[in-house]
Amino acid sequence: MQQRTHSFTLDTSRLDGVLDQPLFRAVAWEAKAQGVPAFAIGGYVRDLILGRPCKDIDFVVEGDGMAFAQTVAKRLKAEPVHVFKNFGTAMFMFGDVQVEFVGARKESYTRDSRKPEVEPGTIKDDQERRDFTINALAISLNEGSAGALVDPFGGLLDLDRGILRTPLGPDITYSDDPLRMMRAVRFATQLGFIIDPPSFEAIKRNAERLNIISAERIHTELNKIILTKKPSVGFILLRDCGLLERFFPEFLELQGAEEKDGIGHKDNFYHTLQVLDNVCAKSDDLWLRWAAILHDIAKPKTKRFDPAHGWTFHGHEDKGARMVPQIFRRLKLPLDEQMRFVQDLVAMHLRPISLTKEEVTDSAVRRLLFDAGNNIEALMILCRADITSKNEKKKERYLRNYELLIHKLAEVEQKDQVRNFQPPITGQDVMTAFGIEPCKLIGDIKIVIKDAILDGVIQNDRAQAWQLMLDTGRKLGKEPLAGMEAPIPASVAE
Ligand code: CTP
Repeated sequence: MQQRTHSFTLDTSRLDGVLDQPLFRAVAWEAKAQGVPAFAIGGYVRDLILGRPCKDIDFVVEGDGMAFAQTVAKRLKAEPVHVFKNFGTAMFMFGDVQVEFVGARKESYTRDSRKPEVEPGTIKDDQERRDFTINALAISLNEGSAGALVDPFGGLLDLDRGILRTPLGPDITYSDDPLRMMRAVRFATQLGFIIDPPSFEAIKRNAERLNIISAERIHTELNKIILTKKPSVGFILLRDCGLLERFFPEFLELQGAEEKDGIGHKDNFYHTLQVLDNVCAKSDDLWLRWAAILHDIAKPKTKRFDPAHGWTFHGHEDKGARMVPQIFRRLKLPLDEQMRFVQDLVAMHLRPISLTKEEVTDSAVRRLLFDAGNNIEALMILCRADITSKNEKKKERYLRNYELLIHKLAEVEQKDQVRNFQPPITGQDVMTAFGIEPCKLIGDIKIVIKDAILDGVIQNDRAQAWQLMLDTGRKLGKEPLAGMEAPIPASVAE
């Protein structure tokens, strides 16, 4: 059941100020001078009426949009104009606003591609080929009607009612450009609108057409959903209208709560969405939000039942981390440090909880700080968000334990500074001390030193580490060169 949660106050008086702005005055002036009808259209008009900020302004002219853009840019001294001949559009920057012009067109799409065949048309032709009535609103910049809303499809009423409706029959609109099905969910989530029920049914019927859309365009819309205040709304819509399974089947597999011998487990689909919403209340970071989405992604693949322990998901954190690149590759999300951040968080998401269970040692805290490095804050946000117990008492206890751990982390970090740990002894040092070429021994000695520091056996100090290096080398059968006991040579970078 869709729920309307929008809370915008529509204000069409905002349209009145449009003609006071230099950009709109210049367009109106050129429209009159050239006898070419011109209109502001699309997202800018929608957002103006809703009072949302918008830095992209699109204009449609009944004529050659590219030539028209040149004259407006010249008048505003806003050249250069970037022309995209394939799309028949032209763009220039006016201050920090991106301005785009296009000639009004009648479009018809071929069935197996998003690329429309275009012929010139009127403003109404152009409006009816757009995705939603609320995105088809236009403002006239023409003599006699300048500043008036041009709304042949009832977009203003739909804005007021909070409904996403297509100007043409939804099967035509979605089939023309299947990305619009993702856009419907995205706008519904961003604006708190509902998708008109016939439109919703049409998405279900046409969901399979999403296959002709590139992964980049899909993930762009998906990321916009993820960046809303409450992305769970969008994910549930995506599932209900059959889109989610088209590009993210692993997420759907989280669904379901099985029961055996009277023992159940939680539905990881809803749990994950709750974790995601919880993270969103604390952070705007897209990749931390992705980590929330993927933290339990391997639970279905690792699920086991045994009568002694009930349901277990052993190793889901490691398997989940290994699934991240596969999912990112398929969705054509970046395979760089952002993906690695998501992977690290998925892999580590159970670590902090194990430190809240027993009397935690400094050594365990140091290891967590060392392994998480600069991701520690993000990891703690994820872990706190992961507490979705319905039992308020339990929830409070877990949160209190995390508070204690966070406190401890800060204390240990201040004392030992291990979070950006740089080993006090480099591989070069080991080679110099023992007169050896690169070999496995160097790595072994470095690990012993790192462990000793993290376990608090020695301090993060070059003199103590140097001594341990010599002792360890001897133990492993290597005698240091003469004169290496003291004084300790200055550190050599690797
Ligand atoms: N549009 C469309 N079908 C699409 C994409 C866009 O009909 N698949 C139309 C809509 O009229 C939309 C306009 O092109 O308002 C501009 O598209 P875009 O800039 O992508 O969207 P906005 O509505 O401006 O929204 P946002 O800036 O939030 O993406």
